[in-house]
Amino acid sequence: MTDQLPHLDTSRSVADRVAHLLALMTPQEKAGQMLQLDARGDLEDVVLAHHAGSVLHASPERLAAAHDLTARTRLRIPLLVGEDCIHGHSFFEGATIFPTQLGMAASWDADLLARVARATAVEASATGIHWTFSPVLCIARDLRWGRVNETFGEDPFLIGELASAMVRGYQGEGLTDATAVLACAKHFAGYSETQGGRDASEADISRRKLRSWFLPPFERVAREGCRTFMLGYQTTDGVPITVNSWLLDEVLRGEWGYTGVLVTDWDNVGRMVWEQRVQPDHAHAAAAAVRAGNDLVMTTPGFFAGALEAIDRGMLAEKDLDRAVGRILALKFELGLFEDPRRPEPRRQRAVVGSDDHARLNLEAARRSLVLLTNDGVLPLAGGLVRVGDGPTEGPAAEAVRTVAVVGPLADDPQTQLGDWAGSSGQADWLPDGQPRSMITTVLDGLRAAVPDGWRVTEARGAEILSLAPDPEGALFPDGQPRPPVVVPAEPDDALIAEAVAAARDADHVVAVVGDRIELVGEGRSTATLELLGGQVALLEALEATGTPLVVVLLASKPLVLPPAAHRAGALLWVANPGMEGGRAVAELLLGLTEPSGRLPVSFPRHVGQQPTYYNQVRGQHGSRYADLTQTPAFAFGEGLSYSTVAYSRAAVAASPLLTVADTVRVEVTVANTGDRPVRETVQLYIRDEVTSASWTDRELKAFRQVDLAPGEERRVAIELPVAECSIVDGAGVRRVEPGGFEALVGPSSRTEDLLAVPFTVLPPG
Ligand code: NOJ
Repeated sequence: MTDQLPHLDTSRSVADRVAHLLALMTPQEKAGQMLQLDARGDLEDVVLAHHAGSVLHASPERLAAAHDLTARTRLRIPLLVGEDCIHGHSFFEGATIFPTQLGMAASWDADLLARVARATAVEASATGIHWTFSPVLCIARDLRWGRVNETFGEDPFLIGELASAMVRGYQGEGLTDATAVLACAKHFAGYSETQGGRDASEADISRRKLRSWFLPPFERVAREGCRTFMLGYQTTDGVPITVNSWLLDEVLRGEWGYTGVLVTDWDNVGRMVWEQRVQPDHAHAAAAAVRAGNDLVMTTPGFFAGALEAIDRGMLAEKDLDRAVGRILALKFELGLFEDPRRPEPRRQRAVVGSDDHARLNLEAARRSLVLLTNDGVLPLAGGLVRVGDGPTEGPAAEAVRTVAVVGPLADDPQTQLGDWAGSSGQADWLPDGQPRSMITTVLDGLRAAVPDGWRVTEARGAEILSLAPDPEGALFPDGQPRPPVVVPAEPDDALIAEAVAAARDADHVVAVVGDRIELVGEGRSTATLELLGGQVALLEALEATGTPLVVVLLASKPLVLPPAAHRAGALLWVANPGMEGGRAVAELLLGLTEPSGRLPVSFPRHVGQQPTYYNQVRGQHGSRYADLTQTPAFAFGEGLSYSTVAYSRAAVAASPLLTVADTVRVEVTVANTGDRPVRETVQLYIRDEVTSASWTDRELKAFRQVDLAPGEERRVAIELPVAECSIVDGAGVRRVEPGGFEALVGPSSRTEDLLAVPFTVLPPG
């Protein structure tokens, strides 16, 4: 091979280089180029025998080996290296692990998410990762689903805002930016709409519903230049997503003009054979997947022989592979991988991975992820501390001498605090002990470090959550992947409870850290219930009975159904999985060193049987409640308390309330901080279309603004919204604005009783 070969000539166009390289490739090399294989497997088999174009899940050692093997291949086509860096560089030892995507969504802060994605890209790119499988744009609707933590929550508009920001952050200055990684919008589309919350089951969802709520966030990032898309696992209307050419070809590549690369999810092609049983063998499955427009086939080694057999049997022409291979090669040329395969850069890695700057950003993200759900005044503890510059703290709590009992199974559980897709969460085999303990601040660590001099922090575990039993159906799935073990809830343990009760009795405040564990979270780990498992409910009841003021810190990957003792507690704080700095962020909030500002990106139900509880459901049903329970959630989308109080008044639509589709509606409202602490308020604008030609939701979030208000400060907040955004998808599946009466609803949450309504009218054209 010499650099005389035309495809190595950088002065040629990408299209020209692709054409020249394609002309050199054998059918085997083309089929292999379409494969993304697991680098935990036999690398010689992956790179030399299967000619894989891409790898994922490579430990640093195996990544180096994979590159070395690639250098021995005939055409030396560089590898594209992907990884799930979904809230930080998950599986790189010592990398910064941020709160989960759902946790960060509670910040409602696109700029913050862009900065987090940028930091993740900077770390990942230094370690030789070219591509992150992030962000997740699935809508969280059935909370039993195990992957709610990976989403931005339940609202398509919020999802679009935050996903767009993360894509920008990852992709930096573009493909030639050495600190950038490719973003991946996943899982296209409707994967989360599972039956009964069961992972990867049939998603019973019409094209109109897809266009109404599921597709808009994807369309936005496709049009904004997200370079890759990943499929989900679901079938819809009998069609596995992998062969859904309506979505992949007509909508994504056709209507939206997407030119990026499309990757299947894990063994989607094989699953059509062994799981969904809609293809008789790998040859048929491979042919169907290629024809539907897939480019990279994730972890279906059988695709290789299948595609070649399909060509032999005339089910595919060799040139059918060229479309996909051409797109993969184009991406590699644009990334400059033929000139520089972007292997790890040890010096840059040492400078940026887990850097102090990223730890500071992580602390900011953790602080912003916390959502205060109830507070009877117990928080901030003892009246709170006030930070004075970088120096000492003052405030009532600095004078009080107090004992805080920190109890609960999650008070000091560093790896659980990181959540799924991090360290030892199960997807990587090279970090069995997780991320370094020294980088993680648990709630216990945080409180110990942050309490004023003289205060005492005591601890007690109080309860176990679960143990594991083998799955009676065997340790492995038919494809050789491990089956998750079966979760067995722990029984309340009298001795542990007695210890926690003693600690609570001996304390002025008790902080109980309860929630879920990784065994209840993630792919294939949906839950039938949403309750706090094991001895946790009994623990909370026993703590309540002591009479010591109780603060419940809910460290839960997703909304849970909370027992009455948690609702009656002095305060309830949801912290999702708050990442490495989470314990410090929680401690500072409890002590009043920071202000709570998070708002729920997803509603909390009162009972699992209320599923789904998302706020923007289609209107029209008999009544509005169950015979035995209200339908209202325990805590609604958009909700969250501050340490201050905020009043909304004088909502108005500026200028004329008679508008055309080409106009912008300007909504104004006066927002006043009526308490004595500063506040970051998230002013939310929902739109209600009074009468629609097809059934539609009662209100939809369309915009929001965050404003910082000092105690006593009042501000007139204006939000401008193009009338074109006040659209519905009609019965024919066409998105359009229907002239007539509308209401702008503005306020602090999605609850109708929290919103001030202002009417406006959209006039018919002409
Ligand atoms: C399967 C998951 O569904 C997907 O989100 C992930 O990116 C891939 N596996 C790769 O790990």
